[in-house]
Amino acid sequence: FGRALCYRGTVSSTQDDLRLWADAERHPAPHGAVVVAERQTAGRGRRGRTWDTTHGTLAFSLLLREALTLPELARMPLAAGVALHAACTDLGVPCGLKWPNDLLTPDGRKLSGILLEADLRGEEARRAVLGIGINVGAAPQGAAHLQEAVPQLTRAEVLGEVLGQLEHWLAQPAPAVLAAWKAASLTLGRPVRVATARAVVEGVARDLDEQGNLLVETEAGVQTVGAGDVQLVGT
Ligand code: BTN
Repeated sequence: FGRALCYRGTVSSTQDDLRLWADAERHPAPHGAVVVAERQTAGRGRRGRTWDTTHGTLAFSLLLREALTLPELARMPLAAGVALHAACTDLGVPCGLKWPNDLLTPDGRKLSGILLEADLRGEEARRAVLGIGINVGAAPQGAAHLQEAVPQLTRAEVLGEVLGQLEHWLAQPAPAVLAAWKAASLTLGRPVRVATARAVVEGVARDLDEQGNLLVETEAGVQTVGAGDVQLVGT
């Protein structure tokens, strides 16, 4: 990954910039191509949120130009979270994962976020764009950055390490991804409140199922959560 890499100053969102490159008639972006930007004017996060790219943020998107089945797509955000966790751990930053893929400091502040956008056609996607924002040298209020733990870290170093880990983890089979995710989890065993599109589920996060859904033990029994926003209660 990253052998074709485009470094931009200001873009609206690296997600859109990479799509334009992927659709270009001359020299379209190949599988594994990356767009990194210094600033985004319309950076976006999961569930329609915005993502601030301030000085000190590493913001990039990675192109996956391959046929992806729905189960492969479902596990990709978890695999990407595992890759981020492995990269930051290797770089000396203590961290853990909040379901599905936020990287947090042990005291629960956000270090990085992942956004997967896939072009679905029926039961398959022909390509996907994985967007990652990492607070390296600065962070929005209430969030954390990697240099708090390792002051001399550079964005280039972090990018190289993360791309290497992504190349490894996105190719791993589901059982390996799930096991690594569970080992890095800050969510399992904890009281959580999950806002899904339909309801708020409160209980204790117990496990992941084989598809990577979160199993929450509530007063009414175990509920399966497929997409939602987890709040760790008590942090
Ligand atoms: C989240 O935590 O909600 C996901 C944040 C993802 C932000 C990254 S920054 C690079 C890429 N370009 C975007 O517009 N968003 C992603």
